[in-house]
Amino acid sequence: MTKQIKSKAMIALGFAASTFALATAAQATDPTEPLVVNGDLEIVTSTAAPAHMDMIDTIQSGWEFRSHETQDLQRDDFDNPGMIFVDDAREAWDTAEGSEGKSCASCHGAPEDMAGVKAVYPKWNEDAGEVRTMEMQINACRTENMGAEALGYTSGDMTNMVALMSAVSRGLPVNVAIDGPAQAMWEQGKELYYTRTGQLELSCATCHEDNYDNLIRADHLSQGQINGFPTYRLKNAKLNSVHARFKGCVRDTRAETFSPGSPEFVALELYVASRGNGLSVEGPSVRN
Ligand code: HEC
Ligand code: HEC
Repeated sequence: MTKQIKSKAMIALGFAASTFALATAAQATDPTEPLVVNGDLEIVTSTAAPAHMDMIDTIQSGWEFRSHETQDLQRDDFDNPGMIFVDDAREAWDTAEGSEGKSCASCHGAPEDMAGVKAVYPKWNEDAGEVRTMEMQINACRTENMGAEALGYTSGDMTNMVALMSAVSRGLPVNVAIDGPAQAMWEQGKELYYTRTGQLELSCATCHEDNYDNLIRADHLSQGQINGFPTYRLKNAKLNSVHARFKGCVRDTRAETFSPGSPEFVALELYVASRGNGLSVEGPSVRN
C-alpha cells in the first residue's frame, strides 16, 4: 500500500485526540540481516501476499518491525527465551497422563514427527465437523485419547505445547486452507477483522492494515501476523498465545472482548492465519 493512501486513511480516522496518538511519520523498517536461526534454518519474514488480500502487496512477519536487539534474540535458540518453554513441553510430551496411561509420544512418536502440522492450523476436522485450532486439537487428544483433563485455553502448559508444535514446523510455509468446509468460518473471521468496534471505533484493519509501519505510542505497528506465535514477550516475560494477544488488542479498542477459545476468536484466527500464508512458521518468536 502506498504512503499516500495510508496517510488518507489516517486523516479519516481522526483519533489523534484519543489516547491513541498515531505518529504520521513512519519509522522506516531498517534494512536488516535476514532471519536465519542457528546458522542454518532460513525463515521467510516477508513475501508476496496471498491472492485473497486486496490492500497489501507484501506480507511481513512482526519480526521485521522489532528493534535489532529484539530481532537478534531469534537468531540462536540459546538466546531465544521462548525455547525454555519448548523444552518444558518436550517433557510433557513424553509424560503419561490420564486414565489411558498414555503420553503424546505413545501415539505420535517424536515431536519432530509432527513437522508441518502447525503450518496448516487452524484446520477443518472432518470427524468433529468443526474448524480446530491447535489448542482445540491438543485438548481433543487429551480428553478423547488420553482420558486426561482439558488444559486451560491460554494456560502455560497449553501454550508451551503449542510452542513445541510450532518449533518443529519452523521454516515451513504457513498454508492454511480457506476454501471447502472452512470457508464459512473464514468469511466470519474476515468480517470480524474489518468491523470497527468499541468506543474508539477501530478494527483490526485500522491498525494492522491501514497503519502498519507507523508508530502508535512508542510501538512500531506490524501487520499483526500470527506466524510467530506463540510469542515470548519481553514485556511480560512469558509465552503468549494468539487468543491472549487478540484479547489484548480488542481491549485496546475499548470494546467488549470475545473470550479465548470462543468461536469468534477461532474464526478470527483462521482468517488472520490465512493472511500469513507464505510466511514461515516462526514460533516461538520474540517480541516486545
Ligand atoms: C491414543 C492416541 C493419541 C494420543 C495419546 C494423543 N493423540 Fe494426538 N492424535 C491422535 C489421533 C488418532 C489423531 C488424528 C489423526 C489425524 O487424523 O490426523 C491425532 C491428532 C493430533 C494432532 C493433529 C494432527 C494433524 O495432522 O492435524 C495433534 C497436533 C495432536 N494430535 C497432538 C497431540 C498431543 C499434543 C498429545 C498429547 C497431549 C496427543 N496428541 C496425544 C491420537 C492420539
Ligand atoms: C489500536 C491499534 C490496534 C488495533 C485496533 C489492533 N491491534 Fe493488534 N497490535 C497493536 C499493537 C500496538 C501491537 C504491538 C506491535 C505490533 O506487533 O504490531 C499489536 C500486535 C498484534 C499482534 C502480534 C503480532 C506479532 O508479530 O507478535 C497480533 C497478532 C495482533 N496485534 C492482532 C490484532 C487483531 C486480530 C486485531 C483485531 C481484533 C488487532 N490486533 C487490533 C495495535 C492494535
